[in-house]
Amino acid sequence: MAPFSQKVYIKSYGCQMNVYDGQKMADLLKPHGYAITETPEDADVAILNTCHIREKAEHKVFSDLGRLNVVRKNRLTEGNNNKNMIIAVGGCVGQAEGEEITRQAPYVNMVFGPQSYHRLPEMLAQLQQKVKGKRRTIIDTEFPTESKFDFLPTPDETPVSAFLSVQEGCDKFCHFCVVPYTRGAEYSRPADAVIKEAKRLLSLGAKEITLLGQNVNGYHGEGLDGKEWSLGRLLFALAELDGLQRIRYTTSHPLDMHEELYNAHGEIKQLMPFLHLPVQSGSNSILDSMNRKHNVDDYLKIIDKLITARADIAFSSDFIVGYPGETQKDHQETLELVKKVAYAQAYSFKYSPRPGTPASILQTQVPDDIKSQRLTELQEQLNHQQLSFNESMVGKTLDVLFDRSGKLAGQIVGKTAYMQSVTLDGCSSLFGNIFKVKINNAYGNSLAGEIV
Ligand code: SAH
Ligand code: SF4
Ligand code: F3S
Repeated sequence: MAPFSQKVYIKSYGCQMNVYDGQKMADLLKPHGYAITETPEDADVAILNTCHIREKAEHKVFSDLGRLNVVRKNRLTEGNNNKNMIIAVGGCVGQAEGEEITRQAPYVNMVFGPQSYHRLPEMLAQLQQKVKGKRRTIIDTEFPTESKFDFLPTPDETPVSAFLSVQEGCDKFCHFCVVPYTRGAEYSRPADAVIKEAKRLLSLGAKEITLLGQNVNGYHGEGLDGKEWSLGRLLFALAELDGLQRIRYTTSHPLDMHEELYNAHGEIKQLMPFLHLPVQSGSNSILDSMNRKHNVDDYLKIIDKLITARADIAFSSDFIVGYPGETQKDHQETLELVKKVAYAQAYSFKYSPRPGTPASILQTQVPDDIKSQRLTELQEQLNHQQLSFNESMVGKTLDVLFDRSGKLAGQIVGKTAYMQSVTLDGCSSLFGNIFKVKINNAYGNSLAGEIV
């Protein structure tokens, strides 16, 4: 391996898949002599691995770019010319905006998307060659014909709780969403590549693996037998691996719940009884307008089937309030659905019109103050339910996987099967272990207790 001669700062925004991609960028650059730095101040290369899902996420990128430019300018005025910094924008804003980014922020040297970052070492090498003393700008937002996964190195370190991308892209085209445009068409990695990566993560100390995909349960990769495997089939194969104590998968679409997946929930004890199954709205007419292709009843039937397969399962979801045309009645129906499912946890957002998506040009946009009002109301109910769910754990003894340090010295934090955080006094030598913890107290976002 080349000695580290440069430093790269990588900041990831958005979903878990971006976190995974950010880690892979670091893995890719390491053999080329790039060490990771946590601050842009001493970086030779700064990469913003961006998210385009809502307008706010995009604004954040442009304000962070402004800050990076200040860091760069300060260095130049300090006469430190050979420490000039390369500024790169990757991820979903890179894919969606391309050259527009360099028009708005001309100091950006490189723009690329989620499907072309395997070329990063090559792109950086090209950038280092100055033309007439000036740097060129590289824009790489084509969807390449090759799969980036074939070019990503195997990891050489892992957290206790690791992410593993198995599926990427989306063909669903919900009318509010940019993902099909930023990530491209659905693609599933072959099962042997997934299993190899999982084995590697386990050998490096991972105990929990979360399979990632924009439509992870739409997985249809080539199986070990050469036939197409569903996500359920893949889960059964992964459950055979030594040392894998917990498996999760996210994010699922209700349309892609298949028989083998219900069986997996019923039979695989390492598959955690907690499922993120976004519904977005509790109103049939809104679901229809969103192009979700299922109604509330279909969704409730899926929930029932999952409970039949695994009685202790709990659910989380995503909701959008103030989608174009949403009436007070539609909103009430969402609140009713939330009550019915009794979610353990959920994310909720105000609808954000995204350029190029069908919903953004509907004439029936909902005013912002109404969106805010509905969001507050929904979140109050979700928080209330989350607290009740957490309170239902008091007095129980739960398995907790400890994997990180707490805010205060001497504290460690772990997760229950339901992703609730539990903080205890303890030392980091406990990381990677599951302990039985008797729960004494419950809060909105966490539990407290003692190891038994
Ligand atoms: N593939 C996942 C979701 C990916 S995006 C699924 O199908 O459920 C994550 C969440 O962001 C979505 O579930 C949705 O709730 C929210 N979201 C997506 N586009 C949005 C928009 N334009 N405005 C507000 N929220 C949005
Ligand atoms: Fe977006 Fe819908 Fe695809 Fe999820 S299923 S990524 S919400 S288009
Ligand atoms: Fe954001 Fe792209 Fe993920 S838009 S949510 S980073 S797929």
